[in-house]
Formats: sequence, structure tokens, C-alpha cells
Amino acid sequence: MILSTRRTSGLQNDRCCPIMLNVNKIRQDFPILKTRIHGKPLAYLDNAATTQKPQVVIDAISDYYRNYNANIHRGMHYLAEKATEAYEDARKTVARFINTNDPSEIIFVRNATEAINLVAYSWGRQNLSAGDTIVLTEMEHHANIIPWLMLKQEKGVEIEYVRVDSDGYLDINHLKDLLDQKPKLLSLTHISNVLGTINPLAKISRLAGEENIPILVDAAQSTGHLGFNVKKHKIDFLAFTGHKILGPTGIGVLWAKKEHLEKMPPFLGGGEMIDEVYFDRFTLNNLPQKFEAGTPHIAGAIGLKAAIDYLDELGLKEIREYELKLTAYAITKLQNIPGICLLGPLSPTDRGALISFTLKDIHPHDIAAVLDIEGVAIRSGHHCAMPLHNTLGIPASARASFCFYNTEEEIDRLVEGIRKTIKTMGKREHERK
Ligand SMILES: Cc1ncc(COP(=O)(O)O)c(C=O)c1O
Repeated sequence: MILSTRRTSGLQNDRCCPIMLNVNKIRQDFPILKTRIHGKPLAYLDNAATTQKPQVVIDAISDYYRNYNANIHRGMHYLAEKATEAYEDARKTVARFINTNDPSEIIFVRNATEAINLVAYSWGRQNLSAGDTIVLTEMEHHANIIPWLMLKQEKGVEIEYVRVDSDGYLDINHLKDLLDQKPKLLSLTHISNVLGTINPLAKISRLAGEENIPILVDAAQSTGHLGFNVKKHKIDFLAFTGHKILGPTGIGVLWAKKEHLEKMPPFLGGGEMIDEVYFDRFTLNNLPQKFEAGTPHIAGAIGLKAAIDYLDELGLKEIREYELKLTAYAITKLQNIPGICLLGPLSPTDRGALISFTLKDIHPHDIAAVLDIEGVAIRSGHHCAMPLHNTLGIPASARASFCFYNTEEEIDRLVEGIRKTIKTMGKREHERK
């Protein structure tokens, strides 16, 4: 396996320094990073949208389709057993990754969005009724707003939003006030996909725990950068998505405490989730199959396992250290650009590896378009967080987001590209006037 050589290839260790990532070597694991865009080397800074995939992930997926493609849990033949073993092995890997001893608490879904919808649909419809309140925050992605708005429309559930202060942090006093009113659920993001803010989960889960309020954490932006430890954070539900942690698209994870999963009704009905079926009734399968109706994304789960193994091999501590350095570098460089406004906390330790910004008089789509010509891929728009942008009083923002395979040189190209945008667009503005 390619991974078995990684200890010596992706990490460098000299005696006086802590273990550091060898980014040049790591970049060779990601075939797409060799791509040229408009004749320039690709600088992929759109990792908050989706990360690139290392060769080991691509190989794991194609190995399944080439060598042991079969449906799982049903067949008695060799291939079916091998595929089942690989799929269940992936579940065990995810369980270990987020620190639960019980793999049956891991439900494979399509993405973080589906994980949150599953909770809203199943737990929400069972536990919430008209007049009950749930608490979200102003910095949520649409994935953690719409499922609850649907419940509000259907059942009359009330939603309160914890305010975000002018520095991009959650207003903890407002959160305390809202928790005092004994809401039925607190559902919040770990890292904001716009502000980059890392929410202080230890403190938040302690506050919610004092009031016995269940917590759902949307860890879409954090799992691949900080990891996640469900035991440490004492939460009830966790949602994350494979494609943002080097894995394939179409595979995501819902983790929930078993006591919840056991009581929750199934989300979808069909094969796999049943034990016995008659023309007039059915009995349910055990966990986790109860929530995995139909043929799952077998290749996706296998690819996700390869991605987690790869992350583990590099080490999340080393990844965080490197990405922190990169983010600090980017903040310093970006801050020097005239007319730029960085969104979110300025302290790199309080944020994930992403920076959203606006430029005076220049639309974020224009910034992204000019950068694209330079081979630099960033995201522009509302990043599926329209309510947050409304709160900030801006229609859109540009966002550069990093992964451990990015370099300071790529950030220099981002900065140069932004300066070029200001020159080009500023000149056009001047000509228009
Ligand atoms: C904070 C956050 N939550 C949820 C999602 C939804 O992820 P997915 O589209 O994979 O379901 C995203 C995606 O950008 C996100 O940034």
C-alpha cells in the first residue's frame, strides 16, 4: 500500500524540531495538484467547498469496483462477503476516528446535509411539537437552518438564533439567555464556513449540559482539520461529510448516542432497514441498518476509510499546526491589501483554515473570476449562509480556504491576484465614471 511508506515520505522529523509535514512530498499524493489552469499551476484554495483526493482514496474506490464489487449484507458469495467486510470496516474506522466504542452508532448517509435532515425528520418529529423552541446560531450553513425551518412550517416549532458579535464570535451571554429558556435542542456549527470561527464546544456543551439540552454539532468544516471527539465534547448528534475530509462525494456520517438512535423512528423505508416484512406490517432491523435503507454508497464508505487512514497517518495535530501557520500567514498578507475587509476573528488560533473577505467596490464574483485566470481557485457568493451575510450587511463574500497541501507560495499568488483585481476592476470603475 502507498500509505505504508507515508511515515517517511509525508512527515519529516529532525531531532530539534517537532514532527512537521513535508508538504512537497504530500502534494505528490494528490494527482489533481499537477493540473495547469489557463496555463498556470493550479492553486486550489477552495477546500471548504470540497477537498482534493489523494491517490490512496482514488485507488481504494477503483479497487472496490475492479476487484470486489458486490452488494453487501445479502450475498453468501465471496465477493459479497468481502464487500460487506470492507463496508463495515469503514464504519469501524469512522467510529475510532470520532472516538466512539460502538460502530453501530455510525450511520452512513450522503452528506452532512442528509445527516441533519435525518435528525430533524426522525428525532425532531418525534420530540418536538408546536411552541417548542430550538436554538441555532446566526452563523449556520443552510444545511443547519432549512431542515428546522421545515419543521417550523410543519409543526409550529420556534427557532431562536444565537447572535454573532462584531468580531465574528458567538455571543455567549446571548446563548446563556437562550439556554435558560430550556429549548429542546441546540444545533450549531463547530467551525463557521464563512467567518472561520471555531466555536468553543467544551464551554457550550457544559452550558447546555447544565440544562440537559441535547446538542447537535455540524462538524462539516472541522472534522478534516481538527478531528472530532464525541466523548470529549459530550454532545448528542454529530454530522459531517466525507468530501470535505479527502473522501469521495456522496458519503457522510451521522453519529448519535445510542439511546437516541434506539428511540428514533426510521427516516427512509425499504430494504436493509427491516427485519421481517408482511403485506400489512414490518419489524425494524437493528442499528445501524435501521437508518440505512436500500443499497448504500459502498465505494463511498471504502473511500472515506482510505481518507481517514491517510489523515491519521499524517496526524491531525501536525495538520492543525501546519494549517494554523498557513492561516496566520494569509491573515498577515491579506490585511495589507488596501480596501480589504476580512470577516471573522483575526486571531488564527480561534479559526479554521479559511478566510472570507470583501473588497471595497468590487463584487466577490469579479475577484474569483480574475483569480481563476491566474490559476487560483477560490469561492465567491453567499456560501450557503445567506442569513449570516444579511446580518453582516453584505450580499456576498470571497473565500479562500486551505488544506495541508497548500503552501505560502500559493497564498502569495492569491494576494498578487487580489491586487491585480483591484488594479483591473478599479481602472474599469474609473473608465465607467
Ligand atoms: C458548515 C457546513 N455545514 C454543512 C455543509 C453541507 O455539507 P454537504 O453539502 O456535504 O452536505 C457545509 C458545506 O459547505 C458546511 O460548510
